[in-house]
Amino acid sequence: MPYPIYYYVAILCIAALFTRSLYARISLFQRKRRFARKHGCAPVTRARAWDPLLGLDHFVRLGKAAAQRRYLEYWRKNMFGRYGNTFEINLMGQRLLFTNEPRNIQAVLVTQFPDFDIGQRRRDNSAQLLGVGVFNADGPTWEHARATLRPNLTRAQVADLQLFEKHVGVWMAALPKDGQAVDMQEWAFRFVSSTALGRRFAWAFNLGVDGVAQKIRLGSLAPLYYNADYGKACKMVHEYVDPIVLAAIEATQKTGSEQHSNVGDEKRYTFLAALASEGISPKKIRDHVLNILIAARDTSACLMSAAFFELARQPAIQAKLRAEVDRQLEGRLPRYDDLKDMTYLNWFIKEALRLYPPIPMNIRVANKDTILPVGGGPDGSAPIFVAAGQEVVYQIFSTHRRRDLWGEDADQFRPERWETIRPHFQYLPFNGGPRICPGQQFALLETSFVLVRFLQEYSRLEAPATSQQPWTENYTLTCSVGQGSWVKLMKRGGEKGSEVSA
Ligand code: HEM
Repeated sequence: MPYPIYYYVAILCIAALFTRSLYARISLFQRKRRFARKHGCAPVTRARAWDPLLGLDHFVRLGKAAAQRRYLEYWRKNMFGRYGNTFEINLMGQRLLFTNEPRNIQAVLVTQFPDFDIGQRRRDNSAQLLGVGVFNADGPTWEHARATLRPNLTRAQVADLQLFEKHVGVWMAALPKDGQAVDMQEWAFRFVSSTALGRRFAWAFNLGVDGVAQKIRLGSLAPLYYNADYGKACKMVHEYVDPIVLAAIEATQKTGSEQHSNVGDEKRYTFLAALASEGISPKKIRDHVLNILIAARDTSACLMSAAFFELARQPAIQAKLRAEVDRQLEGRLPRYDDLKDMTYLNWFIKEALRLYPPIPMNIRVANKDTILPVGGGPDGSAPIFVAAGQEVVYQIFSTHRRRDLWGEDADQFRPERWETIRPHFQYLPFNGGPRICPGQQFALLETSFVLVRFLQEYSRLEAPATSQQPWTENYTLTCSVGQGSWVKLMKRGGEKGSEVSA
């Protein structure tokens, strides 16, 4: 042989890789053609890039926008604004399909639900912190977790307003009385933490969630993510939850297969007790608990902070809200039905969720070759082919602000618009279809309660002069207010010294 053996081996490997890639391309081309014939699919617009191989220029510009807390706005204006409501983009070699089109989102979440998974990106990048559960699983594992959770979020379970009152009381009492503005966002996060698992746990969980968010965004580059504290934080979270799980199992064993726990004088179903009585391993129970926590905790705090952000900047809206609260309650504490009956309050919260959805972007992966109804062809009206393995990113942040769907004042915070609007898939703060948020009622009730109690206790909430700049984002897995929700609060009665802050 004129050359060493490894020379021939290398050539063979290169040839095999080349043939495989060629075969994949030809097969994709043929599948695309078949689908195009059968369903009338047309090609989708591609976002142009100086670097066609990796799309590095997009990556750099998006990184810059994220550093300026304008990541979502960049997608909305510079990408959807330029390429239309559905387009394909190459980000570091990963081809992603982006859409803000209600019909496509409906297909992904509802009508073609079986064709799409949560997928590996979310599952693998969150597994170290969360294990596997309702938030990151697909198939039967997800179905089981979801079924177990359902009874815990029925009306009877969520309507524990006494618990909310206790924590709102702590929140208000802790606000110092020296006339300074307070970041209500920080307090909203403390509030949801104390209604969940306690503050000691917060540092580790926050760090873990940030790590998960960054890894998910990096996708196939996630192994490059490094934070020396990430592993430590995941371990701390587990060490905090494990004894609670073991105590629940022990308590359940004492009372047989009882799925209830004692709260005050009442016997109530709790998620933890139900899991403990199922005879599954402590590790699996921990996974379920953490999966719910990640879905529940920051989303609610984000909504509250957006609501306080607008409340403080919109005196006329605030006055209307307070008038409704006073009319309905005449000074007493709100009950479940009161909160449901307050029309303007409900519009206000809907509007906060429209402009500031706590989960502004989401992703699904096609598990087989399929189509989406629109986005193809020169005017974007033809169906498009979606190959198995294709990731579809749907960005409701921009759907919620589209002028053709919401009118010329789409960027404005105007609760009154809800008097006439009955949106369908153009409004999706809680997702839709089989994976719709099961905590929706809980979150709405909790936020309504907090707002009502602040409107009852304080005659004025106003944004300080130093905090008038337009909204920016703080986007990790969820999206809160970049600059915080700074508010000056005036106690009712306006008595001297009643201006408070924290
Ligand atoms: C304003 C507050 C909230 C918002 C905006 C919100 C929004 C969402 C959204 C958009 C999803 C879909 C995620 C996805 O499929 O990728 C989701 C899922 C979920 N949410 Fe919420 N959520 C909120 C509060 C809550 C609360 C308070 C709970 C529990 C008490 C909760 C429990 C869950 C669970 C368990 C899932 C996963 C459902 C599944 O995949 O089957 N959420 N939420």
